[in-house]
Amino acid sequence: TAMQKAVEVAPDAFIPGGIPDTLIAEGHALVGAPVSRVDGAVKVRGAAPFAAEFALDGMAYAALVHSTIAKGRVATLDTAAAEAAPGVVLVMTHENAPRMKPVPMFLSKPKAAGGDNLPVLQDGSVHWNGQPVALVLAGTQEQADHAATLVRVTYHEETATTSVAAAKARGLEDTAFQGEPQKVEIGDAEAALAAAPHRVDAVYRTPRLNHNAIELHAATVAWHGDELRIHDATQAVAHTAWSLAQVFGLRESQVRVTSPFVGGGFGGKALWQHQVLAAAAAKLAGRPVRIMLSREGVYRGVGGRTLTEQRVAIGAGDDGRFTALIHTGMAAMTAHNNMPEPFIMPARSLYAAGSFKLAVQAAKMDMLANTFMRAPGESVGSFALECAIDELAERMNVDPTDLRGRNEPEKDPTKGSAFSSRNLVEAYRMGAESFGWAAREARPRMRREGEWWVGMGCATATYPYYRMPGGAARITLTRESRVHVEVAAHEMGMGTATVQAQIVAARLGVPLENVTVSYGDSAFPGTVLAGGSQQTASIGRAVIAALRALFTDLLRLGGAGTPLDGLHFDEVRGHRRDNASGLCKAGDPLRHASYAELLSRAGRDELKIEGQAPPPLETLHWSMHSTGAIFCEARVNAVTGEPRVTRLLGAFDCGRILNAKTAASQFRGGMIMGLGMALMEETLFDERNGRVMNPTLWDYHVPAHLDVPAIDVMWTDIPDPHAPAGARGIGEIGITGTAAAVANAIYNACGIRVRDLPVTLDKLL
Ligand code: MOS
Repeated sequence: TAMQKAVEVAPDAFIPGGIPDTLIAEGHALVGAPVSRVDGAVKVRGAAPFAAEFALDGMAYAALVHSTIAKGRVATLDTAAAEAAPGVVLVMTHENAPRMKPVPMFLSKPKAAGGDNLPVLQDGSVHWNGQPVALVLAGTQEQADHAATLVRVTYHEETATTSVAAAKARGLEDTAFQGEPQKVEIGDAEAALAAAPHRVDAVYRTPRLNHNAIELHAATVAWHGDELRIHDATQAVAHTAWSLAQVFGLRESQVRVTSPFVGGGFGGKALWQHQVLAAAAAKLAGRPVRIMLSREGVYRGVGGRTLTEQRVAIGAGDDGRFTALIHTGMAAMTAHNNMPEPFIMPARSLYAAGSFKLAVQAAKMDMLANTFMRAPGESVGSFALECAIDELAERMNVDPTDLRGRNEPEKDPTKGSAFSSRNLVEAYRMGAESFGWAAREARPRMRREGEWWVGMGCATATYPYYRMPGGAARITLTRESRVHVEVAAHEMGMGTATVQAQIVAARLGVPLENVTVSYGDSAFPGTVLAGGSQQTASIGRAVIAALRALFTDLLRLGGAGTPLDGLHFDEVRGHRRDNASGLCKAGDPLRHASYAELLSRAGRDELKIEGQAPPPLETLHWSMHSTGAIFCEARVNAVTGEPRVTRLLGAFDCGRILNAKTAASQFRGGMIMGLGMALMEETLFDERNGRVMNPTLWDYHVPAHLDVPAIDVMWTDIPDPHAPAGARGIGEIGITGTAAAVANAIYNACGIRVRDLPVTLDKLL
């Protein structure tokens, strides 16, 4: 019979950063191998279920009615025509919606998942242009969509702040991100700048950007009595379950959120109003509800990246060493969200400098809450900082890779702590060599091929290592050496199950096909976020804790009388010998006992262990960052101004790479998003009324296949001794640095410096 056993693993004894994982230094053939996605076949066959693909008996379909004003109050709502339309089940407005509490806003509590904390259809108040003011439920999606067009709404309009100039005129506010003030002052940077023999001082602008994951935001919702069941497209199943419980006044255990496959997240697949509205409508109608936002609906109801205006000023001595690093500016925000787009993050840790002045301030606007979008802060901050360094390098007549090398810090320049591991110089070396950087012309407009100016540029990529508290995982090991891992994690396309299966198989010494990983279910252990590029570290640390506990129990319960008698968990390794998986003494594979024997001696058919990741002490002690070097070759048409990126290369230092194939895809995906940010993406916001003007993929441009060149990616693969399994995050870093590398290459090609994204052809004529 299956025995259940949960073991609380004590937090590591306090040593700086916790006990380094003893297995990091040891090679495992499977870890790092280019293993194909274990769920690849399921996805290719179309058998992977997404949130809007669960068909429930009696299900009704939802469509939203969006406000057309930015601020005010609903005056009248005429729903009669909609209610009389074919197939309509009901129309829900603030007058008949169930009473609900606001969604707890992300980061305000450990399991909060909300993009904002506004009331959801409770009082007729309007906070942004596009806010849902009614929901129509009907027998088919087409009936719901049609009826939604029949709802007539009038408003008491109030004066809204919808222009950046007006918002700035009302005053800028200091910001904080994750509780940390976005302000650093070390020395007198303005004085040092004024005294510097070489300097650059410029303003860079980045526009609003919208989330455009391939899978539209969707949820399929059913109530079973007081229990809420939701198939969601989310990066945070556990957070979403807890947050919905707060909204509907339920216990956390009464809400179950599953999300086995997600078609892209990038920070946008959190808890927005549509899931809450679908659950409320399902309650009101007494039947299951599916909601799938239209592409326009995503623009109206799911936040994106906000705009920024950034000043970067750098002073340098004749030796090229920075005496002043100033990175300040503003981001637009709302009064009801907490993502100040912390663009000073790269400047905090990338360069040594004699003085620093860094700050992000916010101007408050009446708009949809801006939110997390792939490398929030770093992506746009690295654009400004890395363009400014390129500008300074040209003024000083120094190669930009050399200028960066001269300012490589020994330790974190603003925190003072040591880096856990940092090999950026090596990343530059390998990237430059592979890219052929030596052939770059130091001056612009030196290389012409037919109608095209050709240039090269580079920039540094950087993203912090995060590991939030709450990681946990359950592992079951059977006598047949089958292993099952359960963790409340997410698969948005990055290979979550594959990589964890590799780690577990390698550490247990079992064949990869013996390991199954279940995830995407709030009923599984852990509060794991697929965000902040931390999911692998979070799961990995929990898995390592579970494996330690598993080894301890195997030895304690079944080790007596075997060659492993008396050994400690740290003295054994998973090892396969004579087709039998089991444990051996480290360095002595002949001292071996199979799992079948250990479990048999223990009198168990299987062992089930839950491991809790210890608190993330490593980030308290070490400065932990993934870094990289991006190289770009760009062409600018001398006649039309058209920019094309013809080569891209990323060389990354992210600790150990756990799967060469999925990691390469992560890096490339991030870099393609950076390419879109550089050349195409821009949300057009009507400053007269706060309405997004291009809420479609034919008006909002993202790179298509013909826009994307072959992208080379490589990595140092130097394990970080303080990161679980030696691996720091890789999900977001690809977007960072890329926009700057593109803009720098464009400058090198044609001699035009564009400081406001996107770099479109009109700016290059
Ligand atoms: Mo990322 S913006 O944390 O999904």
